[in-house]
Amino acid sequence: MKKPDNHILVIFGASGDLTARKLIPAVHKLFCQEFLPENFAVLGVSRSNLSDEDFRKKVVIESSFLKDTNPDDIKAFADKLFYCSIDPKEQDQFSTLADRIEALQAEMNIEPNIIFYLSTPPSLYPIIPENLSTVGLNDENNGWKRVIIEKPFGYNLNTAQSLNESLKQSLSERQIYRIDHYLGKETVQNVLVARFANSIFEPLWNRNYIHHIEISAAESVGVEKRGGYYDTSGALRDMVQNHLLQVAALIGMEPPTHVDSYHIRNEKLKFFQSIRPYQKADIPTHVIRGQYVESVINGEKVAGYRNESGVDPESRTETYVAMKFFVDNWRWAGVPFYIRTGKKLPTRVTEAVIHFNHSPHHLFKSYQGVTNTNNQLVLRIQPSEGILMKFGMKVPGAGFEVKTVNMDFLYSSLASGNLPDAYERLLLDCMLGDSTLYARGDSVIAAWEFIDPILQHWENNPKETVYGYPAGTWGPNNADSLIEGDNFQWRYPCENLADDGDYCEL
Ligand code: BG6
Repeated sequence: MKKPDNHILVIFGASGDLTARKLIPAVHKLFCQEFLPENFAVLGVSRSNLSDEDFRKKVVIESSFLKDTNPDDIKAFADKLFYCSIDPKEQDQFSTLADRIEALQAEMNIEPNIIFYLSTPPSLYPIIPENLSTVGLNDENNGWKRVIIEKPFGYNLNTAQSLNESLKQSLSERQIYRIDHYLGKETVQNVLVARFANSIFEPLWNRNYIHHIEISAAESVGVEKRGGYYDTSGALRDMVQNHLLQVAALIGMEPPTHVDSYHIRNEKLKFFQSIRPYQKADIPTHVIRGQYVESVINGEKVAGYRNESGVDPESRTETYVAMKFFVDNWRWAGVPFYIRTGKKLPTRVTEAVIHFNHSPHHLFKSYQGVTNTNNQLVLRIQPSEGILMKFGMKVPGAGFEVKTVNMDFLYSSLASGNLPDAYERLLLDCMLGDSTLYARGDSVIAAWEFIDPILQHWENNPKETVYGYPAGTWGPNNADSLIEGDNFQWRYPCENLADDGDYCEL
């Protein structure tokens, strides 16, 4: 495999949670698999006053996220980490950073290739690139410079547009990597392979055979320690605008001419541009929002959202959202897309379900009262990663009774069942200069164009219903009425891909 060029990975927000929990473990895994270049360093940057040694201790040597690792590997890896304390808001401190980078490059024989990872509060996303430019750290004359930007990319359409504009002042689009960790998930990428490496699915992948598409991301956890952030965000911003619309685009886009960043991202953009914008009057009937309320799960009392720390006790922020929308193009005309996500649901499952039309003529009797076999293709993103096909089979014995059965593929059945972590894959791609799995500016804006009217509608109509649902249930019942068509309903998935049931985990 091609190795990345020698470079330095500069992490802004180095003393934060994401660095210790996700970024350093991902770089460490790349190190253990020998995917990193010969000459490489990580330079942590934040305001905290730490030495190189303190930083190494915090994120490597004493880290609970790097357990079960060979101590020799840990030492060799820790030696690649360095730290520089500056306040990233302050332009005049960037010369200190530039000097430290130059010294490291000389000491470790690293060409001036640099990735800047912005794992900071979003208010710094426009400021850091501008400050980097004042000391020439955006300049690609001698070596490449790439900037990874964490989510959220904007708070609404306006702020996303201004962030794009401000980034463009110091960087070209080619240098900007907007991360969406869902795109780093192996199973999300497999949507493209399942569709375009096989000839059996694609002929059916359109309005003639598909009744509707369902994408669900259920989480059993609540907001945990992120109440302060979440209360200003809500499920629509936190999960739908980015992760779930990206999944929808991979399911709905046209085949790209080539598998590369330019062609795949062009097709995704066209998909976003084809989503039918909501009229104001549609929003209350097409977008259902909910919030979890106190309940008892397995005999234990579980707090409601409004009692979580950092949350306004009168908050109307949605912890659940279910929506129906249409994609106005030849492939999808008339096929509803449904997206549903929520916190404190019965289980943690993310999956997309392709619901095929019923057979046009019902020749056979159903089994145990189940009418009309509904073929489904379930693309399970997590957990129990795999693909499940549901279809009708004859019940053995007299007559022709039909029963729905399952045929599945599980990643765990592969010899190398180890799925790389999303950050591992995405960091390596950025090191290699491949932005295919990063979101492009125009498509982020197109996704916001669809989401923004819903947010505005809620803001302008604060009394619009937020349905309460007891923690540990599948959200407000009203969401069931979104689904069109006889005998169709949301799938109620269980942790195990092939199990079906309403509440398996409780
Ligand atoms: C994050 C959201 O982007 O994605 C979280 O901010 C959410 O609220 C998380 O829990 C879900 O990611 P995953 O990989 O656990 O499905």
